[in-house]
Amino acid sequence: MQALDLYATIEEYLDFEDEVHHLYKTIGHTVLSKNPKTLIDIGCGQGEFCHIMDLNGIKTLGVDLSAKQIDIAVSKGTNAKCIDVKDVEEKFDCATATFDVINYLPKKYIKKFLQSCYDVLQDKGNFIFDINSLYGFENVAQGTLNIDLEDKFIAIDANFEEGTLYTDITLFDKEVKGQKYTKLSGTIEQYCYEKSELSLLLEEVGFEVENIINFNLHSSEEYDKYIYVCKKG
Ligand SMILES: C[S@@+](CC[C@H](N)C(=O)[O-])C[C@H]1O[C@@H](n2cnc3c(N)ncnc32)[C@H](O)[C@@H]1O
Repeated sequence: MQALDLYATIEEYLDFEDEVHHLYKTIGHTVLSKNPKTLIDIGCGQGEFCHIMDLNGIKTLGVDLSAKQIDIAVSKGTNAKCIDVKDVEEKFDCATATFDVINYLPKKYIKKFLQSCYDVLQDKGNFIFDINSLYGFENVAQGTLNIDLEDKFIAIDANFEEGTLYTDITLFDKEVKGQKYTKLSGTIEQYCYEKSELSLLLEEVGFEVENIINFNLHSSEEYDKYIYVCKKG
C-alpha cells in the first residue's frame, strides 16, 4: 500500500477534527470574501473542505493523488477525482490546498506543481493554502503517537531532519476471523519551505502574494502555520 493510502486508512483515528475545522474556518472565510463561483480543492483528502464550500453555494471539485482518499470522499458525496492537478482541464475561480498539502511537495517538483495551480485558475483567480512553519515542524509535528484500538494498533513516529519531516506509520490490523494481525507500514515525507523561498517561487510562476496570515493550529505559542492568499496576476 502506498504511504498516502496508508495515511488515508488511519486518518479517522488521529483525532485532529477540532483543530482542522479551526483551520477550515479561517481559510473558508478568506475564500468566501473573494466570492468565487467555482473552486478546486487540491489534495482534497476525504472531501470535508469541499463539503463546507458546497454548503456555501460554491461548485467544487476535489482532486487527490490517493485513490483511497478519493474513494472515501466520493462515498461521502464529494465531487472528487484521483487525478494530478496538472491534468485538470477546467478553470476555476479559486484553488485551495488545505492542511499541509503543499508540504508534501518535494523541492524538485514544487515549482511545476505551483505552475499547475496557476494554470488551473481563471485570470485573477485566487490560490489559498496553508503550510507548516519551521517552528511547527520542529516543535509540534515531531514525536511519537500510539493508538490502541480493539481491532487495530497504530504507531506513528515523526522525526524532522535537515528540512524534512519523516513520519513512519505502522498499522497492525486484526483479521476479521482469528487472532492474527496484518502489518502495513510506510513513511510520509513533508518538506519545510521558508516564507521567502515560497513567496519567490509563487511570484516566479506569476502569482501575486496578497497576504500571509500567521496561524496557530496545534500550538498557542509561536505560529505553527502560515496561510497564503495569492492571486493569479
Ligand atoms: C494531510 S492530508 C490533507 C487532506 C485534506 N486537504 C484535508 O484538509 O483534510 C494531505 C493530502 O494531500 C494529498 N497529496 C499529497 N501530495 C499530493 C499531490 N502532489 N497532489 C494532490 N494531492 C496530494 C494526500 O494524498 C493527502 O490526502
